[in-house]
Amino acid sequence: SAPVIALDGPSASGKGTVASMVAAQLGYHYLDSGALYRLTALAALRAGVALDDAPRVAALAAALPARFENGRVFLNEDDVTDAIRTEEASAGASRVAVLADVRAALLARQRAWRRFPGLVADGRDMGSVVFPSATVKVFLTASAEARAERRYKQLIEKGSAANMPALLHDLQARDERDAQRSEAPLRQCEDALQVDTTLMDIAEAVNAVMAIVEE
Ligand code: CDP
Repeated sequence: SAPVIALDGPSASGKGTVASMVAAQLGYHYLDSGALYRLTALAALRAGVALDDAPRVAALAAALPARFENGRVFLNEDDVTDAIRTEEASAGASRVAVLADVRAALLARQRAWRRFPGLVADGRDMGSVVFPSATVKVFLTASAEARAERRYKQLIEKGSAANMPALLHDLQARDERDAQRSEAPLRQCEDALQVDTTLMDIAEAVNAVMAIVEE
């Protein structure tokens, strides 16, 4: 069957960028699983469904009219690429991701991405739950300070306000929620190789992952 490269790691570790560049180099499909949690949160916010109403949020997740096309994300005909990256959608994604029914509803959809010639999947539980028999498992991480600094630079480049202590605090809170939740908590799989990108730029991180894949 088609190979799967599972790339898991904490918030702002650069997973998304690295995963999509590795997928491009290999000519593989790219699954941004976090986008599915973000889309679920956005759909709930728009429908006026409470983010802790597990049955209703799970029903939305199961029926998500999502489409991924040329790096853009759509809900029906609506381009929500930017809408799913707002602070509100990010916080919402983190809240719906704790719900077992939501995770179950998104499972088949994620597995359906496994098609020829292969898949690079990025998230928190790609190696542990969604693709436990993945060909290669990588745990991509970086110090909280390095990750906060990257987010800071992104915000400044966009012309947004940014505050380092607040960003660091927010990241550590998100790490804590990811690690402590009962459903699919974030942890490095025993059979995953760690890539610590604290001192790497994007190109170096991509090369480090490619070196593991090509072994
Ligand atoms: O990494 P970042 O927090 O910037 O965003 P993301 O990867 O798009 O993930 C958004 C939210 O979905 C986070 O709160 C994750 O905890 C959650 N998530 C998850 O629970 N499982 C996944 N496979 C991917 C994301």
